[in-house]
Amino acid sequence: ARTAAVIPAAGRGVRLGPGAPKALRALGGTPMLVHAVRAVARARAVSLVVVVAPADGVDGVRHLLDEHSLPEVLVVPGGETRQDSVRLGLAALPEDVTAVLVHDAARPLVPVDTVDAVAAAVRDGAPAVVPALPVPDTVKEIRPPERPGDPEPVVGTPERSLLRAVQTPQGFDRLTLADAHARVAREGDGVTDDAGMVERLGVEVVVVPGHAEAFKVTRPLDLVLAEAVLARRRA
Ligand code: CTP
Ligand code: MG
Repeated sequence: ARTAAVIPAAGRGVRLGPGAPKALRALGGTPMLVHAVRAVARARAVSLVVVVAPADGVDGVRHLLDEHSLPEVLVVPGGETRQDSVRLGLAALPEDVTAVLVHDAARPLVPVDTVDAVAAAVRDGAPAVVPALPVPDTVKEIRPPERPGDPEPVVGTPERSLLRAVQTPQGFDRLTLADAHARVAREGDGVTDDAGMVERLGVEVVVVPGHAEAFKVTRPLDLVLAEAVLARRRA
């Protein structure tokens, strides 16, 4: 019985603006992907890391990880969507892996305690675990306007105290996650995370506390925050 981490890192980073694929952009002088791999590899439960690299960048990523003394990490090519990339990462896992953590390269600063907490909850028997935080903003549900560009009509306001913003690593019983990736519709349907696919199977997903520093680097302002967090850690 062992736990592996799959790190989807094959995205382009369109929302971050022009430049290298997001996972390869520097944070404190080191590529985001390297931070993310170290963050999960540091967890005691994790015995294997699989990085899903941009399809045309596998050799470059392999080299990068060797350079940063992470030679035991497997590197496989990714797909068109995050879902495809995770599926390709799962396919590379050895038989004896029984639990999987899926962690975005775009969350390079996740604290090891958060990784450990997710892994522990899976080991304790939960088939699916997500780290999450309460939502500071009030959230509205809208309906797409009849004509694009028109104001969006609000259709409801979910009770904020019951909402959670979910992060990664998300942890799973390996067979449960593989089953979800095999059976849940490939695209559309608004599935944006792995736990969402498992929910579609009717399997219970539980929440453990997330961490503010596990935020996702998505837009340019997030890089400013990430640099500041790193500088504070190094101080
Ligand atoms: N990802 C992936 N394969 C894809 C798309 C995304 O492995 N085809 C990964 C990204 O590299 C990232 C994680 O999934 O680590 C979360 O995705 P997101 O934050 O959306 O990253 P990007 O897709 O790269 O960014 P954007 O959507 O702005 O292009
Ligand atoms: Mg994306």
